[in-house]
Amino acid sequence: MAETVTLQVDGKEYHLPLVQGTEGERAIDITRLRAETGLITLDPGYANTGSCESAITYIDGEQGILRYRGIPIEQFENHPNFVEVAWLLIFGKLPDQQEYARFSEALTNTANIDESMKHNFQGFPRSAPPMAILSAMINALSCFHPEFRKVDDPDQLEAVAARLISKIRTIAAYAYRRSRGKPVMYPDPKLRYVTNFLHMMFSQPYEEYICDDITQDALNLLLILHADHEQNCSTSTVRMVGSSQANLFTSCASGVSALWGPLHGGANVQVIDMLKHIHEGQMTPEEYVRRAKEKTSGERLMGFGHRVYKNFDPRAVVLQRTAERLFRKMNKHDPLLDIARKLEEIALADSYFVERKLYPNVDFYSGVILRAIGIPVNMFTVIFAIGRLPGWIAHWAEQNASSTARISRPRQIYTGNPETRYVSLLKG
Ligand code: ACO
Repeated sequence: MAETVTLQVDGKEYHLPLVQGTEGERAIDITRLRAETGLITLDPGYANTGSCESAITYIDGEQGILRYRGIPIEQFENHPNFVEVAWLLIFGKLPDQQEYARFSEALTNTANIDESMKHNFQGFPRSAPPMAILSAMINALSCFHPEFRKVDDPDQLEAVAARLISKIRTIAAYAYRRSRGKPVMYPDPKLRYVTNFLHMMFSQPYEEYICDDITQDALNLLLILHADHEQNCSTSTVRMVGSSQANLFTSCASGVSALWGPLHGGANVQVIDMLKHIHEGQMTPEEYVRRAKEKTSGERLMGFGHRVYKNFDPRAVVLQRTAERLFRKMNKHDPLLDIARKLEEIALADSYFVERKLYPNVDFYSGVILRAIGIPVNMFTVIFAIGRLPGWIAHWAEQNASSTARISRPRQIYTGNPETRYVSLLKG
């Protein structure tokens, strides 16, 4: 017999089914709760709420485990290939030679954006945050590709996914060029995914940017480590917008907006600001950690803590190794990396952080890596968005294919006025 939990309300008993995932996590299925009891659940921030069943990514926050379609993320470290992982996430298995070649070709062939869309970049002020441009331009893609506005055609998934994954890097690079007042560089069909992006960012009409293998591997790995993280704020946003049957471009544009916030993807910028602040001598690492512990200071140790990871963030572990390797191979030194190491050492020995299970998260080391490969700080969260895109697409597609998906529409407990008469305070 199926397992249930018993709920007692007003002297009556209700039996709620338990569901179990493939890794043994259990949940109380409350689908019938309101219909049967008149009650709803209250869970601000959804920390205890499973919004869906998903076969894409598995996280065990206590053990520090992150797997894409069953594969532990550490296994991508030696031969990082973002395009291969993007396919894995979206289509549920690693691509074979033929699938990989076809998808790569589609990425190459669709890298350009419509010329008239290109003019839109001039309409933004030079100081416009690239995340704002990215969100607006991804949304604008739905104007230029009406053929992909339908959401119920699984045969189109490969084509629309390739377009979006390819064009996001063109849009990102153009947003950056706009902020620097530089001419746009068209994508080069000879280059692979990551190198083509760096070419559009950094080549000049009179000088080609040459990308070495170390940089290429580091950026591929960084994108892979950001590629999915189950029901995080931006992915849940994509799913929520997609649940109204909004098209993929629009749904992912909303994901970019959610990612922008400093408590989510924007944290990698805040980490660098914090490290620079300390480096410029405005505070010692010890003083900064002390302030981060004072609730009234309004400061937090940025890049520390995570809603799900309560042991360590496996992405941070790989990124720390990547940072050390990158600096060694590049024969570079960055004082901000020394400060990051010091902050980590102090925090991990401090009972405040130990008791609250606060460990470095993915953002703690990603900024120093991006700095080392020459990415400007205002593009950090944009890089995160490029990385997270395959995850958003995978979740959007999974939801559309699900027979049980419904429009997302949470409820609330109303705490406002009781019924009140309208008596206008305006004269006349
Ligand atoms: N520095 C100092 N104290 C912290 C920190 C931190 N970075 N993070 C959490 N705490 C404290 C809180 O003040 C709280 O203390 P209390 O119990 O005494 O009130 C306790 O730890 C629990 O914190 P919550 O905010 O309840 O944890 P939550 O799961 O809601 O938030 C979050 C997680 C937003 C990531 C938080 O740890 C944080 O703000 N970290 C800094 C920002 C950051 O690095 N964000 C990137 C997250 S990863 C990502 O989105 C890709």
